[in-house]
Amino acid sequence: MSLSPHADDAPRLAGPVLAIASGKGGVGKTALTLALAQAFSARKARTLVVDADLGMANIDVQLGLNPKGDLSSVVAGCLSLEEAVSPAAGGADKRGGFDVLAGASGSGALAGLDTGAVGRLAAGVTAASLSYERTLIDLAAGAERSTIRMAAAADDVVIVINDEPTSLTDAYAFIKTLRLRDEGAAPFVVVNNAPDADAARRAYAVLSRTCQSFLGFTPPLAATVRRDAHIPDAIRAQMPLSQRHPDSKALKDIAGLARALERGVETV
Ligand SMILES: Nc1ncnc2c1ncn2[C@@H]1O[C@H](COP(=O)(O)OP(=O)(O)O)[C@@H](O)[C@H]1O
Ligand SMILES: [Mg+2]
Repeated sequence: MSLSPHADDAPRLAGPVLAIASGKGGVGKTALTLALAQAFSARKARTLVVDADLGMANIDVQLGLNPKGDLSSVVAGCLSLEEAVSPAAGGADKRGGFDVLAGASGSGALAGLDTGAVGRLAAGVTAASLSYERTLIDLAAGAERSTIRMAAAADDVVIVINDEPTSLTDAYAFIKTLRLRDEGAAPFVVVNNAPDADAARRAYAVLSRTCQSFLGFTPPLAATVRRDAHIPDAIRAQMPLSQRHPDSKALKDIAGLARALERGVETV
């Protein structure tokens, strides 16, 4: 799955197409996806965000966008992927801005797609990603077949956890299911919403020990993102975090995540 050839202990570079996964819902996938898109764009990468939460898309709502098209119009054959893209914060050609391929917000129009349709959607996302330097795919919670299929369309997967036991068991279940499909998959871990450094370390240690014991590999820790009330505030204001709170500590952590994914994450 990863495009980056690497020795077992060499830093791992992230491929250009990244799926953001979690297992458990509500851990901050969407918030992280959007802030990471801003961070990549600030580093001059043309960036596309795809809302692949097929049952409960909400990126357009988080950003206060009124998308002219979305994935359901693409699936229905009414729009091409290029036509369905909307600019956020000035669009992908502006530094700090990016393009968004919205989901079908609240309609459930994409829930329960058959395997063939999900495969076509994944192929379409891969085709769209060729016009960008970075593509971030915001996945649904859970480890449904369609979610795993969309994850498999990416070069690499970033799995978001927090310090709750349910987040850790669900992340493990996701990784295990992903590796049943692709035995080489080795997702990067991000601990989000961390109340302090110790809690973050403990959460990562539990997940990495479990993966090592039962799956025989240790997922590399790409970053820890601190708990920061500026994130929910930006969502309430329906604005990108980098516009609403450019100096927030969560945004600094996420900028560090973008750097780590670009330069390579140390494996342990
Ligand atoms: N680092 C953080 N600090 C504080 N709140 C956060 C953080 N990350 C996410 N949240 C909050 O968690 C909630 C769920 O985030 P969201 O991105 O919608 O999760 P998901 O996409 O995984 O379901 C939101 O209310 C968001 O404001
Ligand atoms: Mg979400």
